[in-house]
Amino acid sequence: MAKYYALIPAAGFGARMGSEVPKQYLPVLGRPLIHYAVAALCAHPRIERVYVVLAPGDTLWTQHDWQAFTPKLVPLSCGGGERFESVLNGLQAIQGQVGSEDWVMVHDAARPCLDQALLDKLIAEVGEDPVGGLLAVPVADTLKRADQENRIAATEPRAGLWQAQTPQMFRYGLLQRALSVLEGIVPTDEAQAVEQLGFQAKLVASDARNFKVTYPRDLELAELILAAREGLE
Ligand code: CTP
Ligand code: MG
Repeated sequence: MAKYYALIPAAGFGARMGSEVPKQYLPVLGRPLIHYAVAALCAHPRIERVYVVLAPGDTLWTQHDWQAFTPKLVPLSCGGGERFESVLNGLQAIQGQVGSEDWVMVHDAARPCLDQALLDKLIAEVGEDPVGGLLAVPVADTLKRADQENRIAATEPRAGLWQAQTPQMFRYGLLQRALSVLEGIVPTDEAQAVEQLGFQAKLVASDARNFKVTYPRDLELAELILAAREGLE
């Protein structure tokens, strides 16, 4: 039976956050942002191991206590200049530890509100799929295309449009192949690389809480969601 592994690319910089500290280490309820993605993936009983891909010069990871997640959590120092390179380098680093048909769930360090129910749903809906799939949300708002002055040039039909989230779950062999043969394009997610090979990944309906912390105000929203959840436990 195929096993499940998680891989968290965490070698980014957080340019849109504009902070001195890379965004994955910004404090959220007293812990670094990445702590929550690590905790959610490590808590899932089907996931064998959680790999984190750090930037080669990262000095912040070891300043936090990851003891609670050993031996499931494995840091790798092989991040690249683009997100897809971090993922591909990570896959190459674990070659031999993961079978070609095993599942790899790639999850952003900057999505702290992933929960066990969403992981269960992804596994239930994609675990038998020949291609793979991802969490995503159907677009709810009306979509406007802007001109250069931020005036509306057109209203775009939203029917059939989804916002891709993570985890994105693919078989190790297919994902490694897809990220190795990109020929110039820089995919912003794993599904885009898999699309280039002609495969259609499955969209699994998620919810807005699994959003990506991108801009400074997003930190507040993440704290609200996480604090509400901690209050319920
Ligand atoms: N990431 C990575 N290696 C890169 C770029 C991004 O591992 N070269 C990771 C980020 O650390 C993050 C995830 O990919 O966990 C999603 O990327 P994003 O939210 O875009 O983070 P950043 O690239 O750091 O932010 P920005 O695009 O604003 O610079
Ligand atoms: Mg980025």
